[in-house]
Amino acid sequence: MKDASPANAPLEIFLSDYTPPAYLVDTVELVFKLHPTATRVISKIAFRPNPEAMDRTFYLHGEQLKLIWAKIDGKDAQAKVTDLGLTAQAPDAPFIFEAEVEISPQTNTALEGLYMSNGMYCTQCEAEGFRKITYYPDRPDVMGVFTVTIEGDEKVKLSNGNDLGGGKWHDPWPKPAYLFALVAGDLVNHPDTFTTMSGKEVELNIWVRKGDLNKCAFGMDALKRSMKWDEEVYGREYDLDLFNIVAVDDFNMGAMENKGLNIFNSSAVLASPETSTDANFERIEAIIAHEYFHNWTGNRITCRDWFQLCLKEGLTVYRDSQFTADERSPAVKRIEDVIALRARQFREDNGPLAHPVRPESFVEINNFYTATVYEKGAEVIGMLKTLIGDEDYYKGCDLYFTRHDGQACTIEDWLACFEEVTGRDLTQFKLWYSQAGTPRVGVKEAWKDGTYTLTFTQHTPPTPGQDTKDPKVIPIAVGLLNDAGEEVHATRICEVTDEVHAFRFTGLDAKPVPSINRGFSAPIILEQDQDNATRAFLLANDTDPFNKWEAGRALARDVMIRMVTEDATPDQAYLDALLAVARDDTLDPAFKALVFSTPSADDIAQALFDGGVTPDPTKIYHVTQTLRQSVAHAMQDTLPRIYAEMQVDGPFSPDAEAAGKRAWGNVALSLLTRLDGGAQARAQFESADNMTQQLSALGALLRAEVGEDASKAFYEQWKDDRLVIDKWFSMQVTYAKLAAAPATAKALTNHPDFDMTNPNRFRAVFGALAGNTAGFHSPDGSGYALLADWLIKLDAKNPQTAARMSTAFETWKRYDADRQGMMREALERMKAAPNLSGDLLEMVTRILN
Ligand code: PHE
Ligand code: ZN
Repeated sequence: MKDASPANAPLEIFLSDYTPPAYLVDTVELVFKLHPTATRVISKIAFRPNPEAMDRTFYLHGEQLKLIWAKIDGKDAQAKVTDLGLTAQAPDAPFIFEAEVEISPQTNTALEGLYMSNGMYCTQCEAEGFRKITYYPDRPDVMGVFTVTIEGDEKVKLSNGNDLGGGKWHDPWPKPAYLFALVAGDLVNHPDTFTTMSGKEVELNIWVRKGDLNKCAFGMDALKRSMKWDEEVYGREYDLDLFNIVAVDDFNMGAMENKGLNIFNSSAVLASPETSTDANFERIEAIIAHEYFHNWTGNRITCRDWFQLCLKEGLTVYRDSQFTADERSPAVKRIEDVIALRARQFREDNGPLAHPVRPESFVEINNFYTATVYEKGAEVIGMLKTLIGDEDYYKGCDLYFTRHDGQACTIEDWLACFEEVTGRDLTQFKLWYSQAGTPRVGVKEAWKDGTYTLTFTQHTPPTPGQDTKDPKVIPIAVGLLNDAGEEVHATRICEVTDEVHAFRFTGLDAKPVPSINRGFSAPIILEQDQDNATRAFLLANDTDPFNKWEAGRALARDVMIRMVTEDATPDQAYLDALLAVARDDTLDPAFKALVFSTPSADDIAQALFDGGVTPDPTKIYHVTQTLRQSVAHAMQDTLPRIYAEMQVDGPFSPDAEAAGKRAWGNVALSLLTRLDGGAQARAQFESADNMTQQLSALGALLRAEVGEDASKAFYEQWKDDRLVIDKWFSMQVTYAKLAAAPATAKALTNHPDFDMTNPNRFRAVFGALAGNTAGFHSPDGSGYALLADWLIKLDAKNPQTAARMSTAFETWKRYDADRQGMMREALERMKAAPNLSGDLLEMVTRILN
């Protein structure tokens, strides 16, 4: 933890201050003598001067280490040690640095560095955790070949690379320290093999605690499909004899791509039909793919410095979304991604935490593993591909892989590959990496003599530190339909490059209906004058599945906003349009389920705020309920039939088709529950043989406030399964009505199974509270106060997770003066808390500004 006092204020680091490392590393030998409170780490590191360095200061990072001794070329190094690192006099020639340090994994509750989870040793080094293991130049542009020896009684001892036996490991691929990993404990494996495209056999394992062995098959299958996909689509082959995945229960993030030894939050790898929902299966498949794909985009080619984080993350998210689209449904995946982008990234980009995809400064890098770096970073890759076309995109990727293999790179290196293969100047495109904020794109149409003109205007509102913005290049996919719903102009990419930019479509018989930003080709807010009749027309007729859905969403948003601002009743046109979708047998059930999902309360709050109206979460809650009730009534004759048709017989399969049927069937169930008092939901809850059906039924019952018995039964059935019990915690807060949510969350913190040191459990309660908009924003301020109390408590143990969860407050300026005052008070109280971490302090300070 960094000292937050002004005299010792946490340092802001700037991209523009980058300098090459003074010394480079050739080889690293590490010996671990494991002990819960006194692990010894003995290191032997071969350094050599970096010819490109500007000075010869020998500095190694190191935090919370007890130095036993340090030597340079066999002699006492006479090291000077601070809280943050070590300096010594080093030769201007290659030399060997050796040291022994002592660390205490058992007391490491930050889950960064070497720590213990359920009696098992494990590590997390990204971004700057290796410095809590030993003294080292802990920066990604220093890459070394690691040999690791693990000494201890543990049955299984793992590290990166290839197994030399006896707890000894060697990784032939030079890597930065953030990709180092070690695991030791009483683990069992689910083994398999994969033969690569050049015929090499790779041994695969998923390592888990004994009781979890029956939850590995799906993850293993996802891994093998990922390996195959990366060969087929990107031509990338795996490069070691062995690939290990380990599941750990206490983990701050989803998973980590350590070379040859991926470490996963158990929630991101363990799956079984009885305990995992369809959404869990899809997420697990995506995360396994994501971490595996990092082997090339992240590990073989890494980042020069942490400002370049999107180089590996944006690209790898883009790759995993391509994989999911290929394995499942491209339309459904795109819609899901856009829902998540708007919920998390647009929210971030339009608030006090807005920052560029490539930030220019930070205090704590852990605070920049954000939706902007990941999800907007992926959108930027998608736009690049749209602008240059598939062929040049893959050519550019090939060039990137061959030219930069083994290097630590920048966004400039990446873009140069595409400039080279296309001959195109990407200077303007690069603004997507440096300018924060979501562009607003307006559009006006004109029709004359067979020519249809669309005139786009672009404008990006100011964000912290960036008052004015230059126009970006925005690829907007446009198609045109006639009155009969036929496509009269196929999709064309309009490259909007100026503040005002017009595009002409000629030779048309009649004024067309435009379908704009198809496939969500650019991550923008489209400001389009469109009436609800046109939206209903596009929902019925658009040939682009994303825009078909988008039209329905715009319609729903408009209906809800009118209900809030004009006390309107639910629009019949909307209800009719939904009924038409429900009855259309040509549509994918998963798609129908997405059309029926209404915009979230947070979405509506932002839309109201953008329109100059102060949102009232209580009112939004009531409007949402009224609307759903009206949908249920309008559909009452159809619901039983849909429900019956969507029942999936036979053994459970997590594939997209079966999952889609369950999703649509459960939409019908939740609507039915509003009409039948829960009879159908209770029947489903009792007969369910998989978690999707069981949990959907429980959710429907809880929402109808008739779920208490079911909830008790659920707990009794699953009390020995921590991942399922996380769901149980979260469901109660998610479905708590209005002001009940804070009290429900508070009561749950007193439950014997509540454990604040487990991030999954903490998130189950407080992530659900933050996500329950009406509950978090209870008029009495109890939601704010409770979250602030618990973030302060958590911060003392786990600053990273506390800091990340403080984003619950990032929308505070949207709300009325009373709520703003109470949120400011909660934020100020956190800021003033004694011994606050640098992580949480940075977040709270930025949110307040
Ligand atoms: N690099 C990881 C991923 O995206 C995320 C991560 C970051 C995990 C930091 C742990 C700590 O896959
Ligand atoms: Zn990643």
